Amino acid sequence: MEVVHATATPLALVQRVSALIDAGRAGAAGPLLAAARQIVAPSPELSLLAARLAESQGDPGLARAELDVAIEAAPDHAGLWKQRAALCQRLGDFDRAARDAAEAVCLDPADPDAKALLGSAMLSLGRPAEAWACLAEACAAVPTNAAFREALAIATEANGDPEAALGTLMEGLSPKGGALNLRNAAILFCIRHRAFQKAVALAEDGRIAGTVDACLFGLKGHAQSSLGLHTEAADSYAEALKLGPDDPYVRHLVQASGLLPGAKRAPPDYLRTVFDGYADRFDSHLIALGYQIPGAIRRIAMAYLDRHPGRPVLDLGCGTGLVGVAIGDLPVGPLTGVDVSARMLAEAGAKGIYATLEEADVQDWLDAENSQWGLILAGDVVCYFGALEALLRSVRERLAGDGWFVFSVEEHVDGESGWALLRQGRYAHSRDYLEDALGAAGFAVHALRPQVIRHEAGAPVPGFLIVAEPAALVN
Ligand SMILES: C[S@@+](CC[C@H](N)C(=O)[O-])C[C@H]1O[C@@H](n2cnc3c(N)ncnc32)[C@H](O)[C@@H]1O
Repeated sequence: MEVVHATATPLALVQRVSALIDAGRAGAAGPLLAAARQIVAPSPELSLLAARLAESQGDPGLARAELDVAIEAAPDHAGLWKQRAALCQRLGDFDRAARDAAEAVCLDPADPDAKALLGSAMLSLGRPAEAWACLAEACAAVPTNAAFREALAIATEANGDPEAALGTLMEGLSPKGGALNLRNAAILFCIRHRAFQKAVALAEDGRIAGTVDACLFGLKGHAQSSLGLHTEAADSYAEALKLGPDDPYVRHLVQASGLLPGAKRAPPDYLRTVFDGYADRFDSHLIALGYQIPGAIRRIAMAYLDRHPGRPVLDLGCGTGLVGVAIGDLPVGPLTGVDVSARMLAEAGAKGIYATLEEADVQDWLDAENSQWGLILAGDVVCYFGALEALLRSVRERLAGDGWFVFSVEEHVDGESGWALLRQGRYAHSRDYLEDALGAAGFAVHALRPQVIRHEAGAPVPGFLIVAEPAALVN
């Protein structure tokens, strides 16, 4: 426990509290801050500390209240406006974040942090041109700040200039290595734009310069695997595993490469990492790949809703809401979407189709639920589960007696196993396995037909579209 010495000066106390919060020792910082508040007059600095402490203790409401009061008392203190802007940005209150950051910029026009905060808030508000202007000024003031540069690259891409966005990231990289996060951002950028050769080259430069971490090797492996260089990818994943043995993203990709025994499903942390990073370009990318599942699900939903109009519909792994868009004009009851990725859900929310959106792992969510659904849909989601027994049992329990579960899978053709983890981190399932697992979970197969899921490298990805119903209904 921290002891307050009678001789401690107010400044020393405040510095100690700040150091304890930085060290993640909120429990020790609390009593010390309370002691400091007894002997030091209220000040913006103390309020900033109290807000930081409250947030680090998981109480953003209290942090916000501290800042509200402090801003009321000292409206000319730019630091208070900045901290409230950053807090509101983290809480998703982008409008307030933008207004507070703008106030901080007015009070201190030379402060690049305030401009960067304003730029980030503008980006979140979908105003990329203004975001770009703020972030460009912040980046020009501190060209070595990797976070400013990364945000500027995002704004540049949002303004429709991906080439310049990559250039912005590259400018921050020096031949001697440079910021690791920036390099990883540039590699990820290349992967997202399917520039796999360039991604590998950037990772290799980082390796030669000695600026590496598990993420860099994981991304390198991903890019190599996308180029069909599976042996090289396996080496990269092995390096990644050495540097980050517990990193869920790395472990899943390593499992996919065949270096570790196969996991039965993709871990939620991995899914969050992948889809949070993919959300803003998911729709355009999937359209470019000729993604066919929402349309196919629509045709089946029409047949169901013709007979059962107005039934509540559950969209598992709803992502950005493409399935919701496909069925939005049909006579559906309230539409509920569940997804593990907050950013995918934000995109779905912006479409205004879902009555309810829940951020959760679908297996956990189904197990905690007790309502019944007429239609349960899962477009391109079951491919993140290998073994389907638990998932199918949970879906069966939530499906109404006359309900349909409609889902797609990728087809597993060769091999004796019923399912396999593919190199890209998705699973594929065989027809026999699907039929057995559905039967064991209490489903009857209403339809199981071949379905092209999307196109990759110009070739169709084969799969199945399945309509399953409770077994008791089948004569
Ligand atoms: C390929 S996208 C498909 C999105 C949407 N269903 C569609 O057809 O456009 C897969 C989505 O499923 C989500 N997902 C995958 N596994 C999940 C899980 N176990 N729990 C919740 N969401 C999951 C991902 O976050 C992602 O948004």
